[in-house]
Amino acid sequence: MDKGVFITFEGGEGSGKTTQINRLAESLTHKGYKVITTREPGGTPEAEKIRDFLVQREGGDWSPMAECLLLFAAREMHYNRIIKPALDEGKIVICDRFTDSTRAYQGYGHDLDLNKIEQLKLISLGDVEADITYILDIDCKEGLARSGRRLSATQINNEAQREDRFENLDTSFHERLRQGFLDIAKNAPQRCHVIDASQPLDDVEQDIFEIMLTKLGG
Ligand SMILES: Nc1ncnc2c1ncn2[C@@H]1O[C@H](COP(=O)(O)OP(=O)(O)OP(=O)(O)O)[C@@H](O)[C@H]1O
Ligand SMILES: [Mg+2]
Repeated sequence: MDKGVFITFEGGEGSGKTTQINRLAESLTHKGYKVITTREPGGTPEAEKIRDFLVQREGGDWSPMAECLLLFAAREMHYNRIIKPALDEGKIVICDRFTDSTRAYQGYGHDLDLNKIEQLKLISLGDVEADITYILDIDCKEGLARSGRRLSATQINNEAQREDRFENLDTSFHERLRQGFLDIAKNAPQRCHVIDASQPLDDVEQDIFEIMLTKLGG
């Protein structure tokens, strides 16, 4: 492969992104591809610091625009320092959330003007988008229940550092988010694939892998 493939996973809390990313990375590695996995916000030491502000319970009371600016600051470094160099080496990069999450959370969820988000995206990243985006779609309550079970299982002793700032927002926020992701998919049908994430893990994995194989040409 001359140039790598940039894959992003999107969707609400507990939809199974991290689980499926690990499975896809393993299958592709097994097939002989060079794969890296990374996540947003984060991916570089600087961007991981920004992540703490944004996702931890006591990370701060940011306005949607400030959140958006922090996200693109983190994303610009993550893309240019980690993702692009890996793609240039022909690797498959699988990223847990990317620009669509900003569109969905700050735009649809927090009502930030979608045009302003696109302007900031153009300034910081130009026309960069993933080659394939999987949107894992699930009923919000089901996703949040999964996510709650996982958070309580990770035993983070320091309450202030729990990564549940967004999980703790009300149900209508999560409904808007879900609708936002579906709208994004409708507007970019070549790139985005909506996956029914309420299915058993193995079925979700299979749907994802089939699309991937088509993209890689078998
Ligand atoms: N299809 C599925 N069926 C049942 N349980 C699942 C399924 N997918 C994921 N889970 C479980 O739900 C929990 C959340 O999954 P995961 O962490 O992969 O979601 P996520 O989308 O990465 O969440 P977050 O947005 O909070 O990071 C995990 O405990 C995982 O094992
Ligand atoms: Mg996750």
